[in-house]
Amino acid sequence: MPPSPSPLNAETLQALLPPSRRIGREILILEETTSTNDVAAQLGRAGAAEGAVVFAERQTAGRGRLQRKWESLAHKGLWFSLLLRPAWAFADWSRLTTWAAVGVARGLDESLPGCRAAIKWPNDIYLAGKKAVGILCESAIGPTGYAVVGIGVNVNHVRADFPKELRDRATSLREAADLDAAPLDRHAVAAALLRNLDALYPSLECDFASIVAEAQSRSFLMGRRITLRGALEDAATSEAIAEALEPDGSLRVRLDNGKTQIISGGEVSVSVSQTL
Ligand code: BTN
Repeated sequence: MPPSPSPLNAETLQALLPPSRRIGREILILEETTSTNDVAAQLGRAGAAEGAVVFAERQTAGRGRLQRKWESLAHKGLWFSLLLRPAWAFADWSRLTTWAAVGVARGLDESLPGCRAAIKWPNDIYLAGKKAVGILCESAIGPTGYAVVGIGVNVNHVRADFPKELRDRATSLREAADLDAAPLDRHAVAAALLRNLDALYPSLECDFASIVAEAQSRSFLMGRRITLRGALEDAATSEAIAEALEPDGSLRVRLDNGKTQIISGGEVSVSVSQTL
């Protein structure tokens, strides 16, 4: 029998983070909850300070974009949510998805030697051509306005841990590193993610262009033929070439009819329809 994975522990994780951090200044670790996004939102409504992070070993109702279910296998991954209170205009809060994607990608590079994590716009991180991370940003405006950035990282899953229908599309850090490798230390991975997100946070306000440039350079979609669902008013799906990221992080595509279209995250599903 393989050794059972060591449970996440807040003190162990805090010891791996810089004392002056904003992201991760408070860390809450739950054995089970519905969704860490729900718990972070409750903290947001209760007035908790920016930077609190909620982890859960198991989510009973983990969710992704477009009302999709998110599988959160107990003790195998990192399922966590950040509570943020951006001081800038609400119209720019959509930047958080691009920031989170770049911060997480940098953290994965640090955790896996030789890795260059790719970003599948707008909210997925790919390793070796498969999805390893999903990001879900939710927000509430008003007097106690807050944003929640939920991050799900498949860390120690082996192929059999994924539902059959996901096996060809999903991966974990362990699988991407080497199937025979020992399980990764989840505290070390979590710390690398939080450190990189924290270090990049100031750039959201003062140098977002550099975050977009890195997201573009890590893009899984650029130059590829893609299928868009829910992006156009007059068609259920459309085919396009992904051309570039715009300064606000939205995606510019060239449709088959030759027209350019700018797509923002929202309710759009994007899939690659042709490999390079
Ligand atoms: C997606 O791929 O569409 C986004 C998936 C986001 C999953 C994470 S796991 C932690 C947090 N809690 C949730 O319910 N969802 C996010």
